[in-house]
Amino acid sequence: MYCVRKVTDDLFWVGANDHRLHLFENIHPIPQGVSYNAYVLLDKATVLFDTVDWAVCRQFLENVEHVLQGRPLDYMVINHMEPDHCACIEEIILRYPKVKIISTEKSFMLMHQFGFHIDKQELIEVKEGDTYSFGGHTVTFVEAPMVHWPEAMVTLDLTNGALFSADAFGSFIGLDGHLFADEVNFDRDWLDEARRYYTNIVGKYGPHVQLLLGKAATVLDKIKFICPLHGPVWRKDFGYILDKYQHWSTYEPEEKGVLIVYASMYGNTEAAAQDLAARLCEKGITNTRLYDVSSTHVSELISQTFEYSHLVLASVTYNLGIYPVMLDYLEDMKALNLQKRTVAIIENGSWAIKSGDLMQKFLDDNMKDMTVLNERVSLASTLPDDKVSEMEQLAQALADSVNGVEK
Ligand code: FEO
Repeated sequence: MYCVRKVTDDLFWVGANDHRLHLFENIHPIPQGVSYNAYVLLDKATVLFDTVDWAVCRQFLENVEHVLQGRPLDYMVINHMEPDHCACIEEIILRYPKVKIISTEKSFMLMHQFGFHIDKQELIEVKEGDTYSFGGHTVTFVEAPMVHWPEAMVTLDLTNGALFSADAFGSFIGLDGHLFADEVNFDRDWLDEARRYYTNIVGKYGPHVQLLLGKAATVLDKIKFICPLHGPVWRKDFGYILDKYQHWSTYEPEEKGVLIVYASMYGNTEAAAQDLAARLCEKGITNTRLYDVSSTHVSELISQTFEYSHLVLASVTYNLGIYPVMLDYLEDMKALNLQKRTVAIIENGSWAIKSGDLMQKFLDDNMKDMTVLNERVSLASTLPDDKVSEMEQLAQALADSVNGVEK
């Protein structure tokens, strides 16, 4: 049975939701599912913008067939060649053998690489600024390399203002009947998952996203719909989501507050983290969050790290090194290019207290614009009474930094 939504009178969402996949890219948990979005335009010619993941191919094909109402499919525009969007290209070719494919040079190279049999199709290679008319609608193509793969482009329909934005402005969470961002409480229910999607999938490529945002700014008055490949379509409140993207892609925190991430084997480092959190609240710093690195998925920690201005790393020493799960988190931060944060360190160790120096070195050697506070607290097994004044100094230094108090 088909399940489609209208974006406009002649543009239809023909995507599908996936609630069976546990791990997006086989790494990021998606407990609320994800949507794979594709769109069909009914003009003098018929046009499909992108396809979907193999897992929802059947639903997608039924949707396309329903919207076409017996018409042939004339064009397929591929904005992004990652398999969660392009897996059904060959199924489309089998059903609509005369379909012409519009995409970038790199994208056609990837189609061959993935083993799609496209050589019998008419392939229309486009590049930055090219335009194409489907009858009433004229579109232009904008290259978007590394948002999130090198072949990516976005397509702007100059007639109805629909921007097919590929991975940009996407989000985890199944749409489940909703289509537009204004049909959900985005800020309450979706923002955290949109941030987790962006930061973990595209976060590394902030400068490339900035480049795309710069191009979008020159045609902002022409954009009436933002149609991403995951998550809801935007038709209003562009300023809201653009502001989020501006923060995320420049690695500027959204919030002044403190994220405390601890690695604790027997609860003693955890107790120190809790002590610090309480002291921060006593000082009026209530915008804090505290996570056990061992029981929180790293994609969630990354998302929160992009959100907050200040970070506390509290880690036990393990095999004379950084606790492995904490090290994973640090490596992910490095891989995703996270920068511009103020960091406090609590270290612990029963017979060799090494984790503080090692975490500081990791930050100094691998990450940009990370300010590490001098007030490190060093623990030998537990937080004893005689360390209370050091914890207090650390809490005060953090509070002063959050409040912008000059020293
Ligand atoms: Fe949703 Fe980069 O693919």
